[in-house]
Amino acid sequence: MSNKQFDVVVIGAGPGGYIAAIRAAQLGFSVACVDEWSNEKGGPAPGGTCTNVGCIPSKALLQSSEHYEHAGHSFKEHGIDVSGLSLNLGQMVKRKDTVVKQNNDGILFLFKKNKVTFFHGRAAFAGAASADGYPIAISGKAPETINAKQVIVATGSNARALPGADFDEKLILSNTGALAIDAVPAKLGVIGAGVIGLEMGSVWRRLGSEVTVLEGLPTFLGAVDEQIAKEANKLFTKQGLKISLGCKINAVTKGADNVTVEYNDAKGEAVTAVFDKLIVSIGRTPNTNGLGADKAGLALDERGFVAVDADCKTNLPNVWAIGDVVRGPMLAHKAEEEGVAVAERIAGQHGHTNFDTIPWVIYTSPEIAWVGRTEQQLKADGTPYKAGTFPFLANGRARALGDTSGMVKFLAHAETDEILGVHIIGPMASELISEAVVAMEFKASAEDIARICHAHPSLSEATKEAALAIDKRTLNF
Ligand code: FAD
Ligand code: NAI
Repeated sequence: MSNKQFDVVVIGAGPGGYIAAIRAAQLGFSVACVDEWSNEKGGPAPGGTCTNVGCIPSKALLQSSEHYEHAGHSFKEHGIDVSGLSLNLGQMVKRKDTVVKQNNDGILFLFKKNKVTFFHGRAAFAGAASADGYPIAISGKAPETINAKQVIVATGSNARALPGADFDEKLILSNTGALAIDAVPAKLGVIGAGVIGLEMGSVWRRLGSEVTVLEGLPTFLGAVDEQIAKEANKLFTKQGLKISLGCKINAVTKGADNVTVEYNDAKGEAVTAVFDKLIVSIGRTPNTNGLGADKAGLALDERGFVAVDADCKTNLPNVWAIGDVVRGPMLAHKAEEEGVAVAERIAGQHGHTNFDTIPWVIYTSPEIAWVGRTEQQLKADGTPYKAGTFPFLANGRARALGDTSGMVKFLAHAETDEILGVHIIGPMASELISEAVVAMEFKASAEDIARICHAHPSLSEATKEAALAIDKRTLNF
């Protein structure tokens, strides 16, 4: 019996893979998508890291924990007295799991709707390409081999462990364990003050943990605009996150029900800290386990990522790779954009991912969002620029919401006024940043934004005012 033949086989159904599969199907190709993620019943759970143990469950817990914190601390100011407030962590986690399942099911529905054939199992290159294309072996409940004229590798990433401190997801937690803690730890340690450390640290702090974050670098959020990072550090510290920079971790030792971390602090002093649980969030590594890269001759780079060019082409003809398993920011929307672009290139179109306008969001409270260049980058490369900021303290909607922390900051070219970067720390920064992304895609000037009518009262007026601030003509500050 000959193998099933597909125009396009996508390996991995995370945000990169499932979106690539759908776009390829829309373009008229016969498409299969293979993903090995299983739910607790052993059934398929497409959506990858993002849906199962990343973006979606973390945002569900961030939302729930924020409600809890507001009910305990902010409602009173609004004239709402809450008595008998208590935490039902089991229900909170159950709701998070329901949200995840809705997303898994949604993707299976989308595959059906778009006539993408889904295989639940692990896919591996079974050899080099023949006239039938690449043989892809699928292991799982129903093993079989299929042939692919074009292959899109979208196998994602895994959490990086500290040497000598493997994840057991009970005491030493990756993102997977951090999203499934069954009782609020009194003392929670976090190694790495990056995106996961701050988001998960915020969740558990709001629910009652004393959270200590140990960061290796001497600077806080080095990729973020310095002014915004400084403000964030101040606000998070005020909320109760204990953030220590410049820490050198020497040893992590598990006890029966706690974890001891020995480290040197920024002054070089030896510190021993004991935590009930420890989250290790020090970055992620590309996932090429069991992919059979060597069987097909697929080249990896020196860091283990699938090596690709700017168009996501690998060293093999008709094999592409996208998302976390290739260079670039590890973000779901970056993976999606690459997925669409690759499907369109396979169809002979000119799909393109603009790396200069990929937004970043950290879903803490306040949220941090940015697009484009930071002030320190502009200084370093000698670009002449003007900066304008506007604080939410002076925004009517923020006052009505009772959430006035933070600011919007614009950076524009000193001569052309083109927007070079927009940085926001404040309420709904994740939504506000879209305007800046659109503006930058259209090569807008700061004055373009300053002249556009923004609804009143809205947080977006702070964006307009920050654009006005470039020419020192804010109206409300
Ligand atoms: P993945 O989502 O990792 O999916 C890869 C899939 O391929 C998985 O399902 C895996 O099981 C499958 N697979 C791997 N190998 C094989 C194989 N050989 N055969 C079959 N299947 C295979 N990004 C954001 O943009 N916003 C956020 O808010 C955000 N929050 C996050 C929170 C956390 C806690 C974490 C850990 C990450 C977060 N991210 C966020 C990052 C985001 O999850 C990733 O950038 C994104 O999931 C990458 O998508 P991907 O499709 O490349 O890979
Ligand atoms: P990260 O790269 O954001 O942060 C890792 C932090 O750990 C850095 O500050 C780094 O300096 C520090 N670090 C590294 N080694 C260390 C060591 N040995 N000791 C102490 N500190 C050390 O990585 P993180 O938080 O693990 O997240 C991985 C990726 O997942 C992110 O980069 C991002 O791409 C994605 N993500 C995105 C989210 C979002 O978009 N909102 C949310 C969560 C994750």
